[in-house]
Amino acid sequence: MDANLNSPTTNGKLRDWVAEMAALCKPDKVVWADGSQEEYDRLCQGMVDAGTFIRLNPTKRPNSYLARSHPSDVARVEDRTFICSNNKDDAGPTNNWAPPDEMRATLRGLFDGCMAGRTMYVIPFSMGPIGSPIAKIGVQLSDSPYVVANMRIMTRMGKAVLDALGSDGFFIPCMHSVGAPLKPGQKDVPWPCEGDISRKNIVHFPETYEIWSYGSGYGGNALLGKKCLALRIASVMARDEGWLAEHMLIMGIQAPNGEKTYLGAAFPSACGKTNLSMLVPPKGFEGWSVNTVGDDIAWIKKAPDGTLRAINPESGFFGVAPGTNGHSNPNAMQTIGKNTIFTNTALTDDGDVWWEGMTDKPPAHLIDWKGENWTPDCGRPAAHPNGRFTAPASQCPSIDPDWEKPQGVPISAFVFGGRMSKDLPLVFEAFNWCHGVYIAATMGSEATAAAIGQAALRRDPMAMLPFCGYNMADYFGHWLNVGRRLSNPPRIFRVNWFRKDENGKFIWPGFGENMRVLKWIVDRVHGRANAVESPIGWMPRREDIEWNGLDFPADKFYNLMTVSRDAGTAEARGHEEQFDKFFDRLPKEFIFERELLLSRLWRSPDHWELAPADTVRPAA
Ligand code: OXD
Ligand code: MN
Repeated sequence: MDANLNSPTTNGKLRDWVAEMAALCKPDKVVWADGSQEEYDRLCQGMVDAGTFIRLNPTKRPNSYLARSHPSDVARVEDRTFICSNNKDDAGPTNNWAPPDEMRATLRGLFDGCMAGRTMYVIPFSMGPIGSPIAKIGVQLSDSPYVVANMRIMTRMGKAVLDALGSDGFFIPCMHSVGAPLKPGQKDVPWPCEGDISRKNIVHFPETYEIWSYGSGYGGNALLGKKCLALRIASVMARDEGWLAEHMLIMGIQAPNGEKTYLGAAFPSACGKTNLSMLVPPKGFEGWSVNTVGDDIAWIKKAPDGTLRAINPESGFFGVAPGTNGHSNPNAMQTIGKNTIFTNTALTDDGDVWWEGMTDKPPAHLIDWKGENWTPDCGRPAAHPNGRFTAPASQCPSIDPDWEKPQGVPISAFVFGGRMSKDLPLVFEAFNWCHGVYIAATMGSEATAAAIGQAALRRDPMAMLPFCGYNMADYFGHWLNVGRRLSNPPRIFRVNWFRKDENGKFIWPGFGENMRVLKWIVDRVHGRANAVESPIGWMPRREDIEWNGLDFPADKFYNLMTVSRDAGTAEARGHEEQFDKFFDRLPKEFIFERELLLSRLWRSPDHWELAPADTVRPAA
C-alpha cells in the first residue's frame, strides 16, 4: 500500500513519517483528513452505522451525536502517562518515567500491526489560529474516526493546516491507536480499545517533541492536541523558547465604561474552569460583561511591546457534562445546543441527552451511559461523572470578539485556585511576582477520597501536576525567569470558592457571584481597590468588595477570609515536605519565600488571625 497515494502534502518529512508509520501499523488504508463539513458528516454517518454514534433528535439537538465508550475507557490514565526524557531527573519526581530506548521498543511492539482491518487517518491540526506567531502545528495519525470528528471541533484541522505547513514546515508527530486490530472477517465493536490497562501507554518524548498514545480512544488519552501536545510537549517547548504553556482558562472582563481586562486562571481538573470562563455577571453588575477566550489551556508569550499575550490553542470545549445546567453555566448550555458530540451521557426517550444536575427533577426513564434502562430509583448514575460534550467554541454566546486574534489578548493578572474546604481565604493577592509564583507552586486542592470519606490534599502546582512535561522544579524556575524579563508582570492572585462551614455547607455561593471577586482583582490591577496586608498576602476588607445585589453577612465574610496562625504555619510546613521532593533543583527563592512566610506568621500576635484587621468578627 502506498500511504502517500493521493497525499495532499509536499512536506517530505510528513510523507516519510506517514509512510513509515503505515508500514508499522499495517492499516487497510490511509485517509488524509481534509477537515471539510462533508467529510465530518460522512464520518459521523459511518459511526452511526457502526453503532459508535447515536444521532440525537434533530429538532432538539441538530447535528449532534451521543457516543458510549467502553466502561473501561472513561478518563485520562495518569498512571499510564509517561515522560520519557533521556535523563530521569529531567522528568522529575512528579512524572512517570521509563528509559526512552526501552519505551520505544515497547511501543514498536504494540504498534506493529495494531491498525489491521482499520483505516489510518492522517489529521493535520493547528493549535492556535492558523498562522498565529504563537500557534504550533501537529499531525496526528489515528485509527479512530471518533478522534477525527472530535479533533475537527477541538482544533483547526485539515487542508488549511497542510497549506500553512508547506513543503518544509515543522510539525509535532502524534501517533495514536486504540489498540484493537481486527482479524480478517472479525466483527468490530462500537468502542474498540485495549482492554488490558497495563498495555495502555500515553508517552511523551520531550527531547524530540513526540507523542505516542496506545490503547485508549477517550479524551485526553486520544485527542492528542489537548493535554499531550498543548500542555505536556508545549510546556517543554515553552521552556526551550521562553514562553508559557498553561492549564488556564482565559477570560476578558469588561467594565461599564468599556475598559477590558484579561485574566488567565488555573484550577485543577473538576474545579469549574469552564463555568468560570463563561460566567454571567450577577444582579448588581448591570453593564459589566465577561467574555470567554478559552476554558482549559493558555499559551502565553511576551509580545514585542513587552506585554504578555495569550491565545487559546483550542477551538472547542471538551467539557464535563454532569453539573452543567442553566444556573451553573447558561452559556455552555447554549453552546451545546447543536453540532455537539456527547460522550457517556444518558439518552432521553425523545432522543436528547441528560446528566445529573441538568434539571432538578430527573426524567422518569432514561438509557444510561452504559446503554441500560435507568429510572430515578435504580441507584446508579445515569451519566458517567466524567461524561463530556465536545462543542465548537464559536457557538459560545460569551465568546470574546478577539478570541482568534493571532497575536493573542493582553494578560493583566493570573489567578490560581484549588478546592479547599478550610484554612484558605476567598481571595488574596501576592506581594510580588516571586511570591506569586510561590503561592501558585504550593497550591493544594482536595480530592474526595471516597474510600475513606475524607478530603485528601494534593499539591497541584499551577494545576499542572498531570500536565508538566519536565521536572517541576525547573518549571518553577522558568516561571520566575519569565517574570524577570517583564517590566510590568501581571499581578498574581489566589482564590478559593470551596470553603465550607461547620455543617459542611459551602460558605460562598460561587458561579456568577464569583464576579465580585473578579471585580476586586480587576480593580487591584488598575490600582483602584484597597487591601490590607496580612502574613499571606494582600486581602480585601469587606468594604473593598462590591456587594450590590447580594446579601452576604459580615460574619460569613469573616469565616470565609480568616486563617488561624496555626493553620497558616501547618500549611507552610506542608510546603517544606513538598519541596524536599525536588532536592537541589528547587529555586532558592522558594526557601526564602517560605522563611519569610513563617516569620510573618510567627511575628503576628498569638491571637492574630489572618483576616483583615477590620473585618467584623462573628459574635461569640
Ligand atoms: C480536562 C482535565 O479534561 O483537566 O480538562 O482533566
Ligand atoms: Mn483541564
